[in-house]
Amino acid sequence: FRHATQASQAVAQQIAALIRTREGEGRPCVLGLATGSTPVGVYNALVQMHQEEGLSFRNVVTFNLDEYYPMQPHELQSYVRFMREHLFDHVDIDPANVHIPDGTLDEASIDDYCRRYEQAIQDVGGLDLQLLGIGRTGHIGFNEPGSGRNSRTRLITLDRMTRRDAASDFFGDENVPRRAITMGVGTILDARQVVIMAFGEGKARITAEAIEGEISSMVAASFLQDHPSAQFFIDEAAAEALT
Ligand code: F6R
Repeated sequence: FRHATQASQAVAQQIAALIRTREGEGRPCVLGLATGSTPVGVYNALVQMHQEEGLSFRNVVTFNLDEYYPMQPHELQSYVRFMREHLFDHVDIDPANVHIPDGTLDEASIDDYCRRYEQAIQDVGGLDLQLLGIGRTGHIGFNEPGSGRNSRTRLITLDRMTRRDAASDFFGDENVPRRAITMGVGTILDARQVVIMAFGEGKARITAEAIEGEISSMVAASFLQDHPSAQFFIDEAAAEALT
């Protein structure tokens, strides 16, 4: 797409169509959602469709990819807060259908919590569509270099580059949490459809590596090359390094 706004509109249309299809089938629409700057335009467009076209989220169940650890839900950088501000507070989703990894847990209970997060996705029939951004390390979710194809929801250590990229949100590198809870690469690859977005020249190098590079755990997004239904939505700037 020429601009990110056009790509975001197209993604929002695709998600809206899926929500309506599932509604027609009388089945829940299960969405995996991302945070960060990239999906904001998609959420804005979905809120607009809710307000102007009556797109309903009553039938939608969501699972967010990740959350910093530790993190309290009311904090400025929390992904709970992000999702409420950009989407959930503006649509008719049932709060009981929203799932976001819990950054407030005791460390001892995290493994068990992550297993239950995976189980909850299974219990509702698996993810229909997973929305993704990509980090400059190639991460999807917070699956930093070294994350294997079969990795599952777990506590991870954030890469230095990722923490540097988040520094402005936290008013300094030293305030960025060192860890996060993230769905695994395997969790993401199990989604029936994957939509990954990359906008701006800062994503050009990693976008080319993910699409055209070797499939490797050093670039988690490269595993999407093997997914039966993964689509990249990118703007011209992010497409710059493709051959
Ligand atoms: C966010 C997430 C991350 C971001 C990635 C890009 O939930 O899982 O993988 O998608 O770090 O972030 P932005 O969009 O801010 O460039």
